[in-house]
Amino acid sequence: MPQSFLKRALSGFTPYTPGLQPPDGEGWTKLNTNESPWPPSPKVLAALHAAIGENLRLYPSPLAEPAREAIAREFGLTPDWVAMGNGGDELIAMCLRAFVGAGERVAFPTPSYPLYEPEALMYELTPIAHPLGEGWALPDSLAADEAPLKLVANPNSPTGTWYPRPVIEDLVRRSRGVVALDEAYVDFAPETRLDLLHEHANLLLLRTLSKSGALAGLRIGYALGHPDLIRALDVVKDSYNLDRLAIVAAVAAIEDRDYRRRLVEHVVNERDWLAESLAGAGFTVAPSAANFVFVRPPAPAGEVFEGLKARKVLVRHYDREPIAGWFRVTVGTREQHERLLSALQEVMA
Ligand SMILES: Cc1ncc(COP(=O)(O)O)c(C=O)c1O
Repeated sequence: MPQSFLKRALSGFTPYTPGLQPPDGEGWTKLNTNESPWPPSPKVLAALHAAIGENLRLYPSPLAEPAREAIAREFGLTPDWVAMGNGGDELIAMCLRAFVGAGERVAFPTPSYPLYEPEALMYELTPIAHPLGEGWALPDSLAADEAPLKLVANPNSPTGTWYPRPVIEDLVRRSRGVVALDEAYVDFAPETRLDLLHEHANLLLLRTLSKSGALAGLRIGYALGHPDLIRALDVVKDSYNLDRLAIVAAVAAIEDRDYRRRLVEHVVNERDWLAESLAGAGFTVAPSAANFVFVRPPAPAGEVFEGLKARKVLVRHYDREPIAGWFRVTVGTREQHERLLSALQEVMA
């Protein structure tokens, strides 16, 4: 029996399991982790090439100022409304560190991003999961919860559900603590909740360049919110949480609005095509406002998943209620979708 050095609070703890990342270049059709189907913008790649040089021996800007300034310009804010994180994931951790005292509650809906619960446990906080209602609606109990922090993904993952303005406004208005609205997928949705930021000092928007920014490999996230919230996040951040290359790429990606717009347009069109094709193949398809579709195959899901994997096609498969038997499939290129559909045909035959 190996000895455990893990702190007692984490005995029996199950960490978050990221989606499979097979080695590059092995010919996988990767539709399991909601990455961009397109490469980073050519302007981002050029900026990165130019930044590889002698200066990498120096630490980066601790506040990643050039990135904050570019983001602030993009959203008509001042830089004191912007915090930076090593991916959206680090921003979630920073929220837990900044806003929740030892043992206090962290509230979130379920099913949602499976990182929220283990991350809260890691900091020895008390995760409170509020089950989504009919049609994956946010439950009233979430708004009523007195937790100092709520984490709410909009659009939600893995369900793809979009919560419109009145729902979010009600949640934020009724919340005593901070509402971190996780907008990782918002660029694929009808609108952002930037419009509520100036009205509610307890609302924080968490964003990422991993999806519409096509930069999952560089780990860049940003938060938008009242300067009092931003200052609290900066108190708990790691000293140099964005490296020099990430800062350069963040600026170039944010400034290349045209590329982002075209990428989003592609994803939204392909999302419709993929949803229709899967519905045509007998799948149950939930409405999605994100860069993935949430679907249930008309055959035993575990077997379909394994059959796809054997054909080098990866999707995300859920085996726990209330979403046991569902898949989350990232929107890719038409070629990737055709590979998925032909593998499905073989597997289900
Ligand atoms: C709901 C949600 N929030 C946040 C993230 C964080 O993304 P990243 O850490 O790559 O910025 C993800 C990633 O898939 C996500 O699904």
